[in-house]
Amino acid sequence: MKQRSTFRAILGGLTTTALLAMGAVQAKDMAPEPIQPVPAAKVTHPAKVELGKKLFFDPRLSRSGFISCNSCHNLSMGGSDNLKTSIGDKWQKGPINSPTVLNSSLNLAQFWDGRAKDLREQAGGPIANPGEMAFTHDLAVDLLRSIPEYVSEFKKVFSTDKLSIDEVTLAIAAFEETLVTPDARFDQWLKGNKKALNAQELRGYQTFKASGCVACHNGVNVGGNSFQKMGIVEPYKTDNPAEGRAGVTGKDADRFNFKVPTLRNVALTYPYFHDGAADTLSEAVDTMGRLQLGKTFTPAENADIVAFLRTLTGKQPQLTLPILPPSSDQTPRPKPFE
Ligand code: HEC
Ligand code: HEC
Repeated sequence: MKQRSTFRAILGGLTTTALLAMGAVQAKDMAPEPIQPVPAAKVTHPAKVELGKKLFFDPRLSRSGFISCNSCHNLSMGGSDNLKTSIGDKWQKGPINSPTVLNSSLNLAQFWDGRAKDLREQAGGPIANPGEMAFTHDLAVDLLRSIPEYVSEFKKVFSTDKLSIDEVTLAIAAFEETLVTPDARFDQWLKGNKKALNAQELRGYQTFKASGCVACHNGVNVGGNSFQKMGIVEPYKTDNPAEGRAGVTGKDADRFNFKVPTLRNVALTYPYFHDGAADTLSEAVDTMGRLQLGKTFTPAENADIVAFLRTLTGKQPQLTLPILPPSSDQTPRPKPFE
């Protein structure tokens, strides 16, 4: 009972007034939608973005010389690795599913538990994480300083001789801010092209709204803007030890609260949930209906919602593969097998 009333409180909280206050809708709109289109990226410093792109693809920032950010956030595959949990240094099994980097700049915080406040704070994490790239910030900086082309590129971008982990994370974050996916079919529909969705997709969107999915999956990123409990009506069963937000706040009430994942490009970012337990969208939708809303969808309703979710795939970033500057004679060598 208590859990159901929590849910009603969430739904009840999402009144038009609240949406107006959030600036999500304008008073003149007759039927405000709880989801808004993704704006195109504004690139203010192309050279910084270009440097960040190189760093994102550079495996030399890992101990093994083999793992780059792109290994686990593959930009050819929706910014994810499509594995239940990631593979890190020495083929270690990762603790949690890798979220997409696409549109992550639109999230209120980074990581499933929100422990990094923004992309810049996040970017330093994986390089020094022994289970991921297993390097250190000092080693990463030494490595970059040993490569003359990097040194001059950092100097040009930041107008200073300083090359520290700060400049590294600033450049990576600037690149990540460009990884947005505007112009999804659903966004075309939101902008007035009523032919952009077919009847089934539209029905799916209506069921998505009417069932209460939008209480948590709303805004530009169709999620990413709040922490919510996984398993409101029915508990979520998993062997994964992740505690969610409680690990950050220390509050018992935050146990199993996770950042609501974005549903942008969700057709590309399987498998689903923090433990990667759901292989298909259909399975994820079924679980969400039962655990978050106490609702069992019919196969037809499930298929409609899945059809709607597939319209959230936007225009993927079109990248030219960066050509990385070669190591110099002074560059420390990778240690893949030690
Ligand atoms: C070994 C795999 C692996 C590598 C390498 C890796 N990541 Fe991640 N990344 C993950 C996993 C797993 C998470 C989720 C961790 C968590 O929430 O506790 C994550 C989370 C993130 C997030 C947060 C997204 C969100 O919505 O919360 C961003 C952004 C990100 N990584 C960027 C990067 C960047 C930049 C690099 C390179 C410097 C990188 N990652 C390297 C696996 C990896
Ligand atoms: C009370 C808030 C809430 C409601 C209501 C809710 N969700 Fe979720 N949703 C979440 C949270 C939190 C997660 C992440 C859970 C986890 O990984 O443990 C999630 C995850 C998902 C995922 C997996 C995304 C991924 O990348 O892993 C899908 C798909 C999804 N929800 C769809 C839906 C649908 C469809 C509905 C309506 C039937 C719905 N959600 C209702 C909070 C909610």
